[in-house]
Amino acid sequence: MMSSMQTQLPGSLHDYQIDPYRLLDDDLKDVYEDIREVLVRNTTQKELQTIATYYFDGKGKALRPMVAILMARAINYHKERNGLLASQRQVAMISEMIHNASLIHDDVIDQPDFRRGKPSINVVWSQKKVTMAGDYILAVASIMIAQLRNDNVTLTLSQVVTDLVQGEFMQLGSKETENERFAHYLTKTYRKTASLVANSLKAVTMLADADEQLAELAFQYGRNIGLAFQLVDDLLDFVSTLSTMGKPTAADLKLGLATAPVLFACERYPELNAMIMRRFQEPGDVEKAFELVHKSQGLDQTKFLARKHCIEAMKLAQSLAESPYQKGLQVVCDLVLNRMK
Ligand code: FPP
Ligand code: MG
Repeated sequence: MMSSMQTQLPGSLHDYQIDPYRLLDDDLKDVYEDIREVLVRNTTQKELQTIATYYFDGKGKALRPMVAILMARAINYHKERNGLLASQRQVAMISEMIHNASLIHDDVIDQPDFRRGKPSINVVWSQKKVTMAGDYILAVASIMIAQLRNDNVTLTLSQVVTDLVQGEFMQLGSKETENERFAHYLTKTYRKTASLVANSLKAVTMLADADEQLAELAFQYGRNIGLAFQLVDDLLDFVSTLSTMGKPTAADLKLGLATAPVLFACERYPELNAMIMRRFQEPGDVEKAFELVHKSQGLDQTKFLARKHCIEAMKLAQSLAESPYQKGLQVVCDLVLNRMK
């Protein structure tokens, strides 16, 4: 299914042969270790250390730190400066920590069995301890933000946390009318996923003493990549299996969530509306909705929208000075669009 949906962006990947992860190997190799170290250093509670570091096992994609460092280096180069500032690398760590804290709280809410192919944190420890471990990671990230001593960066990264909470809150309710639904989904998606990427990239740009225009460019690049990433995630929920994604297929429907593929499918099969309203709770709803999504153009339409956001991000990256990092930002557009897990 996915292989037939592989699409190439105009003038992309194959021209460049750049692997952003290899390009940033030195910058990224210790990110997880450094995060583990700071989480261990800030408490003497052994069990809290263990729970808080559980997901920092180095097996994640580290997409957020990777993109943050890529943008930092691309902007530095654009401003005719070399290297990566220590503060920019801190932002890369902070963004992964905020992400992780939100995943931990999300696991308390969603109660999954697995994440990234291992027992999810909520299965291993009690709800109370897991919730506090999420709070703890966020608290340590807040200390790190304060240590940057840059008010605009503090404001920018604090905004992310309010967005995450609001995004998750929006997802709890879906009683909106049919025509409000897509706008609600997009706002929720921005807050839940794109804001973290957008604002982290804005923060690394501000740390380079860049002007507002560049900060806005970095923000918009991150917003577009973040939206595309979540759209592809929502698409993969319909086409992948437990073994590739580390979580079961149609997990969103089972959680009662109507994501882009279902919302698009609704145009062709209005009977989905009632199922959306009751959050796929009646027997057979999940199976029926899954079937209708596959029969509709919903998956192609979702991919098309993701592609639109990737093209937008690609254009923004192209306006930066040419460098391996600037090319890496373009390759990321391809990686996000064509990822399989
Ligand atoms: C994953 O959702 C969840 C998020 C991206 C954000 C969750 C945000 C909160 C729980 C608010 C609290 C925030 C902080 C910073 C403590 P998903 O269920 O769609 O993805 P999954 O399949 O990976 O679980
Ligand atoms: Mg979840």
